[in-house]
Amino acid sequence: MTLKPIDPNIASAHTLPGSFYKSASLFEEVAEKVFTSSWQYLCDADILTEANTYHPINLLPGVLDEPLVLSRDKDNQLHCLSNVCTHRAKLIVEEPGRGKVLQCGYHGRCFKLNGQFKSMPGFDGVENFPSEGDSLPSLTLQNCLELLFVSINPKVSFDEVFGPVLNRVGFMGLDKMRYVATRSRDYPVAANWALYCDNYLEGFHVPFVHPGLNAALDFKNYDYELFPYCNLQVGVAKEGELTFDLPESSVDYGRNIYAYYFWVFPNLMLNFYPWGLSLNYVRPLNHKETVVHFRTYLLEGGEAIADNPGVHQTEMEDERVVESVQKGIQSRLYKSGRYSASMEKCVHHFHRLLVDALAK
Ligand code: FES
Ligand SMILES: [Fe+2]
Repeated sequence: MTLKPIDPNIASAHTLPGSFYKSASLFEEVAEKVFTSSWQYLCDADILTEANTYHPINLLPGVLDEPLVLSRDKDNQLHCLSNVCTHRAKLIVEEPGRGKVLQCGYHGRCFKLNGQFKSMPGFDGVENFPSEGDSLPSLTLQNCLELLFVSINPKVSFDEVFGPVLNRVGFMGLDKMRYVATRSRDYPVAANWALYCDNYLEGFHVPFVHPGLNAALDFKNYDYELFPYCNLQVGVAKEGELTFDLPESSVDYGRNIYAYYFWVFPNLMLNFYPWGLSLNYVRPLNHKETVVHFRTYLLEGGEAIADNPGVHQTEMEDERVVESVQKGIQSRLYKSGRYSASMEKCVHHFHRLLVDALAK
């Protein structure tokens, strides 16, 4: 199935067809073309703090299943390496551990913690060995706000993707925020991952779906901004709500900002509140099931003002509509829809990025 391009003019465009969300083969194509080339949240930087330690991570289980290993070498340098032995492809590390080398348990090949081939028994007389291909492929790791990101086959630089986020919320001192497990949880959603993103990308539904949030937001001033690979919804607060204390250097100085809702192509949401960050990592399981990891990071003093019950309530309301759309999309009678030119700019942006990435 080939997708028609999405019209760049939102006023004449049609949405992604219903068939996109139902197709297992398109889902595989998205995995190979979109998920391998985009920047994916991997884990928090504090997962490995000591020299000579390593930690295996399966990138996007069930979708990419790319076996990786994070390692911190003797000089405290962090690396993200392939966890697949360059001999006959056994997984090298199965558990987190410590040591100066990574040793494959099949035939004993050893690698340094920076991925370089170190030794291999039984290979005397093998020509042109070892060569570069006997070392472990390494991926560029990006540390942004102590969150680690990788891309298997990056098409765009990390800075080009995340630059607008840091520009806007850099004033918050986010490098000092800390992860709080008791305020974090995973939400299984019985729907295609892209339907979950579609729903996130507009505030159009807020008055209909989220009575609590609607009472806090000044909907007339709700704003949408597009950047090359991310977009932003600016939630403006009604009188009396908690708002950001903005510095004069902020482009929003003088506005009552309730939240900055950033979406980063294709599956990450970074929701900034005066108390910190709610990171939502949308992880597809297959074409009809998704899990969304909600991770809460608090700024100093954020404990007292963070509103996780509010975030949870909003999530429950969103899941109800998204799972209803998942049922609706199965219809043989629904083809595709149109966009509100004022309120569905970010949905249109997502659809365009997705169809463009698939066409490449
Ligand atoms: S597969 Fe690793 S040493 Fe043979
Ligand atoms: Fe919502």
